[in-house]
Amino acid sequence: MEFSTRIIHEDNIEDGSGAVMSPIILSTTFERGEDGISYPGGYFYSRYDNPNRHALENKLAKMENGAACVSFASGLAAATNVFQSLKSGDHIIIPDDTYFSIRSILDQMFGAFGISYTLVDMTDHAGVENAIQPNTVLIWMETPSNPSLKITDIEAIVRIAKKHNCFTVADNTWATPFYTKPTDLGVDITLHSTTKYLGGHSDILGGALIFKETNERYERIRAFQKLGGAVPSPYDCWLLCRSLTTFVARMPIHSNNAMQLASYLETHPKIERVLYPGLPSHPQHSVAAKQMQNGYGGMLSILVKGDRAAALQLAGELKLFTHATSLGGVESLIEHRKSIEGDASPTADNLLRISVGIEDIKDLIADFAQALEKI
Ligand SMILES: Cc1ncc(COP(=O)(O)O)c(C=O)c1O
Repeated sequence: MEFSTRIIHEDNIEDGSGAVMSPIILSTTFERGEDGISYPGGYFYSRYDNPNRHALENKLAKMENGAACVSFASGLAAATNVFQSLKSGDHIIIPDDTYFSIRSILDQMFGAFGISYTLVDMTDHAGVENAIQPNTVLIWMETPSNPSLKITDIEAIVRIAKKHNCFTVADNTWATPFYTKPTDLGVDITLHSTTKYLGGHSDILGGALIFKETNERYERIRAFQKLGGAVPSPYDCWLLCRSLTTFVARMPIHSNNAMQLASYLETHPKIERVLYPGLPSHPQHSVAAKQMQNGYGGMLSILVKGDRAAALQLAGELKLFTHATSLGGVESLIEHRKSIEGDASPTADNLLRISVGIEDIKDLIADFAQALEKI
């Protein structure tokens, strides 16, 4: 069966009532069997596992062609659990333009435990290899990156990692399995902030790790999930499973809209530059064309001609694009990244990040046209 059919029909919960849609099992505890020892339903306490979480994890593992999925209460809880699986003295390679909170986690939480990192431009393969130290254990990827939309050649980085016995993580939040499947390209762990496109409606916070193999690291992270307890609620799991059923319907609209908006903005005299991997002008367009299927995703960034004030003014003049953080919902959002990332961030002052929603593209372009006239 094809991907879209399986997401709808497999891994649903049947409670004997004949309900067509899965129920939500809110119970935190489950009854023991007659022997006083066993748990005939397969569950005993919801921090350990819950039917809705189980269904979600099975669906996400299938979507990414992985062997198993471990879900979390947020994307950053998922990232934190990967770092918790390391040991003191380990070193990591991180993209120089990684989502800024990944660096914050390492600086504020893991530095004290002796875990160090080096920031590297992931498009410079020799630079990645040169940054590997005897204690390097992990190479982290994020493609397209947030917010500069750099594309990492996943297969090339996996080759380097394997040569040096490192494991790999790819944050696939922006590409989603609709456009890229890191597992198929050799990545050990695929990370998602399910808050974004998988949730799709800006109303669920969640995260997930999908494992290529159920190896020792998987077992450790699974144990940390159950013991640490940063787990998603049954309701969030249920809502996310619901969102996954429309995933393949939503994604092409995001991408077609983003491509058209990027093409429009690229020719506009008040826009200095558009960063979108689908544009031939994008520096890694050929890597994106090789690695991404079905399109190039719904995210783009623009550099507005002028300074921070011009960028903020443009964001303020838009009527359909809400000036707010986050991405991946059906509604279009725009954000001035530097003001959320802080002054130390390398993000340009005139950069606006756009999450292109699934509204009619004519309305989205008309909104930009009226806003650009005013600045
Ligand atoms: C690429 C990427 N990874 C991870 C995260 C963190 O996810 P969450 O906010 O669900 O913790 C984000 C959030 O914006 C993101 O854009």
